[in-house]
Amino acid sequence: MLGGRTSEERVLVLDFGSQYAQLIARRVREQNVYCEIVRHDISAARVRTHRPRGIIFSGGPNSVYEQGAPQCDPGLLQLGIPVLGICYGMQLVCNALGGQVEGAPSREYGRARCRVTSHEDLFAGVAADLTVWMSHGDQVFRVSDNFLPLACTDTCPIAAVRHRTLPVYGLQFHPEVTHTPQGSTILHNFLRIVCGCEGTWHLGDFARETIEQIRQRVGDGRVICGLSGGVDSAVTAALLYKAIGPQLSCILVNNGLLRKAEQQAVIAEFSSHFQTDLHVVDAEDRFLAALEGIVEPQEKRRRIGHAFIECFKAEATRIKDARFLAQGTLYPDVIESGAALDGPAATIKLHHNVGGLPEELGFELIEPLRDLFKDEVRKLGRELGLPDEVVWRHPFPGPGLAVRCLGAVTRQRLDVLREADAIVVEEVKAAGLYRQTSQAFAVLLPVQSVGVMGDARTYEDAVAVRCVNTDDFMTADWTHLPYDVLARISTRMINEVRGVNRVCYDISSKPPATIEWE
Ligand code: XMP
Repeated sequence: MLGGRTSEERVLVLDFGSQYAQLIARRVREQNVYCEIVRHDISAARVRTHRPRGIIFSGGPNSVYEQGAPQCDPGLLQLGIPVLGICYGMQLVCNALGGQVEGAPSREYGRARCRVTSHEDLFAGVAADLTVWMSHGDQVFRVSDNFLPLACTDTCPIAAVRHRTLPVYGLQFHPEVTHTPQGSTILHNFLRIVCGCEGTWHLGDFARETIEQIRQRVGDGRVICGLSGGVDSAVTAALLYKAIGPQLSCILVNNGLLRKAEQQAVIAEFSSHFQTDLHVVDAEDRFLAALEGIVEPQEKRRRIGHAFIECFKAEATRIKDARFLAQGTLYPDVIESGAALDGPAATIKLHHNVGGLPEELGFELIEPLRDLFKDEVRKLGRELGLPDEVVWRHPFPGPGLAVRCLGAVTRQRLDVLREADAIVVEEVKAAGLYRQTSQAFAVLLPVQSVGVMGDARTYEDAVAVRCVNTDDFMTADWTHLPYDVLARISTRMINEVRGVNRVCYDISSKPPATIEWE
């Protein structure tokens, strides 16, 4: 994954299968230091050639003494490059350098009080008594004389350590989560004091470097980019357009599962920003035929993915000399599809936009946003001059309204859903809440209920309104929309959308629910 960036100051995060690896990377970038995630088994020799200022070992779900637990190249600890091990990462470095790791008498999840005993470097300016977030079963019990303990909690005698001669540090708790309020100071200290970074990196540098890299890689080749209407594909296309201009061809597949007026909006935005090739494929009939009679969510996704590949392939083969395919894949897409490089991330949903397509088409893949979070992509979009409507548009799943149309997916049900969905978005916008919410949409349920309209009995569909807030789309809270907004949504939906007589509000968080219903 190392992209050969020219950033002077770069830190690597070695991913041992942590839920938080990406969050660590983002926290580092927030301190204006460029950061990339790499496989945990990267060799010391490879790392040396990239000259990072620091290396962070992430946490992970395993025990270091378990058979097959992910290890690192021990040579990494001898490079003279500062290393910070977090949770599993700390256990790994201590284990490698003469410490003893065991299962803790009681697992520790959640907040803990931590007492700092050394206020130098890592803990400079940090209170002696601080709240930290713990999430571990094992811990380091004993360290050799080569290590200096820096902090402890009631149940964890060695909550932080420093090696006496090597620039190697360990934290049992998670400095990257907001539940460790002084975590950013600790990371700042690691980056500035221990690694000697000055913090000169900005997202604009990422744009410039990515554009340059794309230019070099593509040469005079042609790149195809799928547009979906979402911010990720728009930012990907914008980066490519800046890099290679007319060598870019974009394809928009109208699968009949788009939101209301979405196709027209994408075409209008595209034409006002790019003077390059756009192919619109009208494939509504084809997708609806593929979905006929299908109600099982994964099967819907599979069929949509398949139909998408077919349509895309047919169009792509018409574009002469195309060698590359650009995708706006973000890190959460990668891990939720179980496709992350490391760690046993479970497949929660099949995201059809990850994998499959490039191999089918024999294209080389360009994924410039693979390391970024959604909000970083938005900042990048602004940096590239994309308009607010594009940058702030709520994300939309690749399989579109099909996974919000529970049960059978028919043209008629999709039309109902499109109208209901447009009302949710309009009202959330009208209340000035669109930017403060991460996703707001309607879900058509496969449920009818009895109502009364005028003097007549009705037996019609129920719609669920879903609105969530999230930083990273991997966890989410349901949004506490004001009652008057909910009331307007409900009234309008029942009055304006033919076939709907009941509206419910979804009050489930992720986990245990997911954002989409299917
Ligand atoms: P879930 O439902 O898994 O969604 O909590 C997390 C985020 O991912 C979006 N999503 C998808 N995006 N292809 C995509 O491009 C997909 O198959 C897909 N499924 C879910 C979802 O809208 C939310 O933003």
